[in-house]
Amino acid sequence: EWKLQDVLTEQIELVKAAVGPDEHVVCALSGGVDSTVAATLVHRAIGDRLHCVFVDNGLCRYKEGERVMGTFKSDLHLPVTCVDATDMFLSRLKGVVDPEKKRKIIGAAFIAVFEEFSVQLEKELGKKPSFLVQGTLYPDVIESCPPPGSGKSHSHTIKSHHNVGGLPADMQFKLVEPLKWLFKDEVRKLGALLEVPDSFLKRHPFPGPGLAVRILGDVTQGNALETIRLADEIFVNSIREAGLYDEIWQAFAVYLPVKTVGVQGDKRTHSNAVALRAITSEDGMTADWYHFNSKFLADVSSKICNSIRDINRVVYDITSKPPSTVEWE
Ligand code: XMP
Repeated sequence: EWKLQDVLTEQIELVKAAVGPDEHVVCALSGGVDSTVAATLVHRAIGDRLHCVFVDNGLCRYKEGERVMGTFKSDLHLPVTCVDATDMFLSRLKGVVDPEKKRKIIGAAFIAVFEEFSVQLEKELGKKPSFLVQGTLYPDVIESCPPPGSGKSHSHTIKSHHNVGGLPADMQFKLVEPLKWLFKDEVRKLGALLEVPDSFLKRHPFPGPGLAVRILGDVTQGNALETIRLADEIFVNSIREAGLYDEIWQAFAVYLPVKTVGVQGDKRTHSNAVALRAITSEDGMTADWYHFNSKFLADVSSKICNSIRDINRVVYDITSKPPSTVEWE
């Protein structure tokens, strides 16, 4: 029988055996379930010869950096450094409107920060870390080597998804991929065995490029980042309060770069609109829009317009995937 406790014990032993007693391992934590569970497992195996980095790219949700760092440190006791690279990411993204360009810039900036982290670490340790932990799952393995004749290949990619990874060849790490044989639901269960908090394991997926693909157009326009963080926080909190969080695959706010006319407190306003999107899905490949009751939507809309100065209009996305994608960019 496929028992996850046995898988866990076996993977910990395998990591111990693969990583020599004087060797060091690096890991980039994204705040997602996979990298967190992978790092926690490796930490069980080799302790503080694991060195994690969390890159704050300035594109995180409301208080996200603090929240995930809190979980890493207080709950999981992971050895993790937070690098605040907000200025670098935002200055490189200034004026960029093309979604694929944004993804490429973010991927490249991430690599630059990671390289800098490894160089520093090498100086501190007096030797180069030789392994890299990745939270690769079984479906990623299948997707990156489609079986011959399956008709699938990378040329079918609709969006170039930048997860943590894609490091340049000259960085030459050996890979530690302890989740490589598991599906997402198994990773969640494994995470529970490793005492990763439930609230963390059940979090909605969040795209690697973060809010950059949820602000249409230039990420640095006006107060877009601040505005979208607040709108998103109000929406997702309302979903939690209504007890709907676990039924929904993803829910978020999108900043629209359009000004519309409104009337707020007897005054004519000319401010921004946000779109709300919530979907149900099995795997993110196809999705249905979520049917909230209208009172819920009305309440969220008033909360957003009443508390965010720059917003005078809220719309709800009623498109499934296909024809739309999950994200607006
Ligand atoms: P789409 O928008 O392609 O999204 O229908 C499907 C799922 O993938 C997430 N997504 C991304 N994840 N990097 C990521 O790591 C990306 O560039 C990216 N783009 C979309 C999206 O949130 C959804 O879960």
